[in-house]
Amino acid sequence: MDQNNREMIADLKSYLEYLKGLGITEWPLSFIRNETMYCQEVPTGLGGIHELSPRYGMENISQSEVQRLEEVRSELGNCERCKLHRTRRSLVFGEGNEKARLMLIGEGPGNDEDVQGRPFVGKAGQLLTKILQAIEIERKEVYIANIIKCRPPQNRNPEPDEIENCYPFLLKQIQAIRPRIICALGTFSAQTLLKTDVKITTLRGKVYDYSGISLFPTYHPAYLLRNPEKKREVWEDMKQIAKALAESS
Ligand code: URA
Repeated sequence: MDQNNREMIADLKSYLEYLKGLGITEWPLSFIRNETMYCQEVPTGLGGIHELSPRYGMENISQSEVQRLEEVRSELGNCERCKLHRTRRSLVFGEGNEKARLMLIGEGPGNDEDVQGRPFVGKAGQLLTKILQAIEIERKEVYIANIIKCRPPQNRNPEPDEIENCYPFLLKQIQAIRPRIICALGTFSAQTLLKTDVKITTLRGKVYDYSGISLFPTYHPAYLLRNPEKKREVWEDMKQIAKALAESS
């Protein structure tokens, strides 16, 4: 067996382990026949195509202004900067390892998160934990946050004034943690961080330079719950993240 075949089999084996970890134990044969199981190479060159708007960029925070996470939390306080404070039950600041090398950023709290005051604790969060485990990362090792910290009513998309008020605090969290890698979960997170309206299907599979931090967009776990066939692409993205983490250690 040549090297290529060995690598292909090893890759297929780890993909099947990943699916097993996500609770998938059966796979329709028709799907295997129709899909290219071994994906093409994912471009990973640094130097992203999208520039952050200077207004939202981390460049705007000078080194002397960098706060510790607890200072960011206390500055945020019992935030009433936008209308979402009227309908929220909890402000979901974010949680995890303050020295995380990987930071995951979702859209905003859903109902479960609003009740518990913690990010990604519902069904999508459970899937996220399994996805991380598939690349041998425990949830406690990473930091998890959202673009906005309060649940929009009926889980509607966050509105511009809500992002405007909340986003600077996310930037301060990123600055405090200074992760090596950010994984943007879903359309909204990727588009906000990269200041673009390019679709997530185009954005994912590439790496972007986010003020010196490598940013990998991928599909949101909630989207995966509705579209399980997209797990293959997320697996590819997660492998790139694992590789970049290993290379940056
Ligand atoms: N979806 C998100 O984007 N964030 C959460 O915290 C939970 C669900």
